[in-house]
Amino acid sequence: MLKLAVLVSGGGTNLQAILDSIRDGRIMNAKVAAVISNNHGAYALERAKQAGVPAVCISPKEYSSRTEFNQALLDAVNSYAVDLIVLAGFLVVLPETMIEQYENRIINIHPSLIPSFCGTGYYGLKVHEAALARGVKVTGATVHFVDKGTDTGPILLQKAVEVEAQDTPETLQRRVMEQAEWKLLPQAVDLIANGRVQVKEGNVIIK
Ligand code: GAR
Repeated sequence: MLKLAVLVSGGGTNLQAILDSIRDGRIMNAKVAAVISNNHGAYALERAKQAGVPAVCISPKEYSSRTEFNQALLDAVNSYAVDLIVLAGFLVVLPETMIEQYENRIINIHPSLIPSFCGTGYYGLKVHEAALARGVKVTGATVHFVDKGTDTGPILLQKAVEVEAQDTPETLQRRVMEQAEWKLLPQAVDLIANGRVQVKEGNVIIK
């Protein structure tokens, strides 16, 4: 049974997709051991509680330095002895020590087709604003393994979503979530939980 820590910052709809998929059997052989937020106000914490999953907040505001916060975050994750860390809308730069310790065991969902609209400064609604400003006709979502860069790790899954003429950043964000994110992230967890994913020389092989 693959034990997950799901790291969140906001609404937690991707967390909900994982919880629902485990409940419905679309994810097999995995359980959410903990939900960790950097933000006390994150609705994702409420979703975790409703699902009976341990939920904690590690807020940088409560530590006197970034180093102390990073250590607290790492300690919290380690305390649940998890096999996989899932970044589900977690908008904090991960400590390097965590990336080293969990090499190829951290995945992230990003709301574009990487390498478009990704990297520093591209998160949440900003990604969709940039896609609309550029006038792309197709966007989507990506699940990738996390390395030390920003959105640079090996790509596991991608799904394209059409942009519509009348889209606002909000309508596009919603469609990318519904058509891509909420399907891709559970699918990625299921593939990993069932031993079907291998990372070789920076590329992902799905068996
Ligand atoms: C999602 O769209 C996710 O892809 C994005 O934040 C949103 C979180 O929504 N993540 C990033 O932009 C990471 N760079 P949620 O809290 O409802 O799952």
